[in-house]
Amino acid sequence: MAKKVTSLDAFKEDQTEVVVDTSKKLKVAIIGTGWIAGAHMQEYKKMADVEIVAAADLIPGKASDFMNAWGYPEARCYLSCHELLENEPELDAVSVCTYNTQHAPCAIDALEHGVNVLLEKPFTVTLDEALDVMRAEKKSGKVLSIGFQPRFNPNMQMIKKIVESGELGKIYYIQTGGGRRRGIPTPFGTSFISAKTGGIGAMGDIGCYSLDMVLNAIGYPKPLTVTGYTSDFFGKSKEYWRAEHKPEEYSEEFGVDDFAAGLVRLEGGIILDFRIAWAMNLDTSGDTIIMGTKASLRIPSTECWNGSIGGPMTIYHDVAGTDVGVSTTVPMLSNTKEGEFYHKIRSFLDAVKTGGKAPVPSSQIVYNQAIIDGIVRSGKTGHEVVIDIPEI
Ligand SMILES: NC(=O)c1ccc[n+]([C@@H]2O[C@H](COP(=O)([O-])OP(=O)(O)OC[C@H]3O[C@@H](n4cnc5c(N)ncnc54)[C@H](O)[C@@H]3O)[C@@H](O)[C@H]2O)c1
Repeated sequence: MAKKVTSLDAFKEDQTEVVVDTSKKLKVAIIGTGWIAGAHMQEYKKMADVEIVAAADLIPGKASDFMNAWGYPEARCYLSCHELLENEPELDAVSVCTYNTQHAPCAIDALEHGVNVLLEKPFTVTLDEALDVMRAEKKSGKVLSIGFQPRFNPNMQMIKKIVESGELGKIYYIQTGGGRRRGIPTPFGTSFISAKTGGIGAMGDIGCYSLDMVLNAIGYPKPLTVTGYTSDFFGKSKEYWRAEHKPEEYSEEFGVDDFAAGLVRLEGGIILDFRIAWAMNLDTSGDTIIMGTKASLRIPSTECWNGSIGGPMTIYHDVAGTDVGVSTTVPMLSNTKEGEFYHKIRSFLDAVKTGGKAPVPSSQIVYNQAIIDGIVRSGKTGHEVVIDIPEI
């Protein structure tokens, strides 16, 4: 992909245009045609070098309804990821948009069929699953990118730029997370809240975004130990659910975390204090803060944490080595014309076409997953756990 300047005002980010080489069309399929699959389709439709050829969903008729709705009545539809992969030998890439517990099996299956994979977040449910996916990735030599679209947002990128500039000095403490007062997601049933399908709850839905925001900014240091806690007081309570949710059924089905917290030791002597809530009796569980020896950065939380930033960031710093109560506001940057979801997919396709590196690589996100896994393990055992990640 090339970026062409289309205006004399090359200083504004939105003045560039994405130019795509259409000499080779990539054959792409969608695995799991639920809610997020629509966002993938919306962007794939804009890609002149993509041909959507097939889709799969376990629910009979769902994939074909989806393809018809998106204007692809000729697409071939299957009843499982495996059936699709067995019958589509020409495929270049798949978007794995299944619920969390099917991320690992579908990603591994696709890689073993020699297909490049754009895998929705969270990477997987457990660390062991993530490692299995990485083994399949290595063996296949294909591209595996994990779907963290906030990476492509200019404000998120600014956090990384601030850290990398050295403005904050040595980073020693980070607080991140976020939450919602009432926001357990059940727009299309129980796939997020059931242990069989979601596997992990708030951590996998929104916590992984908070972790990626700060870990990516500081260069993804290795997590060493975790003391963690998870709870499910809201999801398990009949009182939480409104009548349309069938309180008996949803509270019974609820099998994941609606709150999680962890204190993580990272390589380089950094402490990461993390908490995430799908529901709580509080407006916010706090802003994200990155504390450094020269300055600290405050990143405002959002009311409904979904991987975006709540407003202008602030850097608190000395002047000429003196604390004179000064802070600098970092104004919000406007998004690119295409938006972050477009770039998540475009950057994956570009890596597939050029044989380049995955834009959001498993080698980083395995640390994100290891923290989530560590919080689950520590919550169960009631003490600090060591994080052990073998070389893949
Ligand atoms: N990046 C984002 O902004 C974003 C937003 C929402 C959800 N997500 C992620 O996307 C994933 C899906 O979320 P959703 O809301 O679309 O869920 P969903 O329940 O609406 O859809 C998942 C679909 O996958 C199908 N499926 C499961 N296993 C399958 C298999 N082996 N083969 C074929 N189909 C299979 C299910 O039948 C279901 O229709 C989740 O992991 C979620 O975390 C990402």
